Amino acid sequence: MRRLVAETRLSVDDLVAPLFVREGIDEARPISSLPGVVQHNLTSLMVEVQRLVDLGVPAVILFGVPLAKDAVGTGASDPDGIVQVALNQVRERFGDQIVLMADLCLDEYTDHGHCGLVRPDGTVDNDATLDRYAEVGLAQAAAGAHVVAPSGMMDGQVGAIRAGLDSRGFDDVSILAYSAKYASALYGPFREAVDVEIVGGGDRTTYQQDPRNVAESMREIALDIAEGADMIMVKPAITYLDVIAAASAIVDVPLGAYHVSGEYAMIKAAAERGWIDGDRVALEQLTAIKRAGADLILTYFAADAAAWLS
Ligand code: PBG
Repeated sequence: MRRLVAETRLSVDDLVAPLFVREGIDEARPISSLPGVVQHNLTSLMVEVQRLVDLGVPAVILFGVPLAKDAVGTGASDPDGIVQVALNQVRERFGDQIVLMADLCLDEYTDHGHCGLVRPDGTVDNDATLDRYAEVGLAQAAAGAHVVAPSGMMDGQVGAIRAGLDSRGFDDVSILAYSAKYASALYGPFREAVDVEIVGGGDRTTYQQDPRNVAESMREIALDIAEGADMIMVKPAITYLDVIAAASAIVDVPLGAYHVSGEYAMIKAAAERGWIDGDRVALEQLTAIKRAGADLILTYFAADAAAWLS
């Protein structure tokens, strides 16, 4: 009876698995603050994508960890950069069996750790960054991404990337915009996963959302849709269920939510101590995200949840 009348149906079809691929490693490396998640090399990445295909997970999103970082994040758009190489190989091997998304940002590739280009005084230069994002989007599309997902929270990024893609015939490549991405303390384990440290102990408060605001996020979402976003996203998820619900009430494009590294790590840590049943808490949280209105959920539990839900 409960099954028959359930109002929320979480399914494997809702899940997107974030995957990390690191340049120059012989075998996959564990990430200590994300138990069960690894930095892949190209070989282990292929095995993991095959496993996700077999589990029925409909999409993955790739993050790259380059060997060398510089001021402009050259590796993010280099055709031989780790993510482009990985995208090429995954697309060649799996074709359209799984949706291939690429996180589009500079922070994994810059030596200062910011998501954009930085002026001599250390502040992020929004407008100068837009041209770089367009270049990165083109490189990812050329390498085989079905979807590019700008996560840098620069104003105008969606329009700039869309214009870049369309100018080169990549009008079929979709944009999943991280539209309401908060300056959150929950990204800590992710920064270990991609080896990012913001120079001088800085933060992203000048470009990511203030946790105190929700109306501002609705404006960000409306702007991204007006600029051509095909899907939009709220991030983190559990701490921002109200934002997901508010977004779901106003948008008519697919709505994503990112259950982020800190949200995953908290469940794993408490479960390890025997304080909670980690699998049940994870499923409860993913269900809550769906109930709040998300259509797709980026989660490090994707493979586990696919098995639980089958
Ligand atoms: C930026 C980016 C971040 C995450 C996804 N894309 C980190 C940040 O903004 O500092 C965080 C994801 C997570 O914590 O799981 N490229």
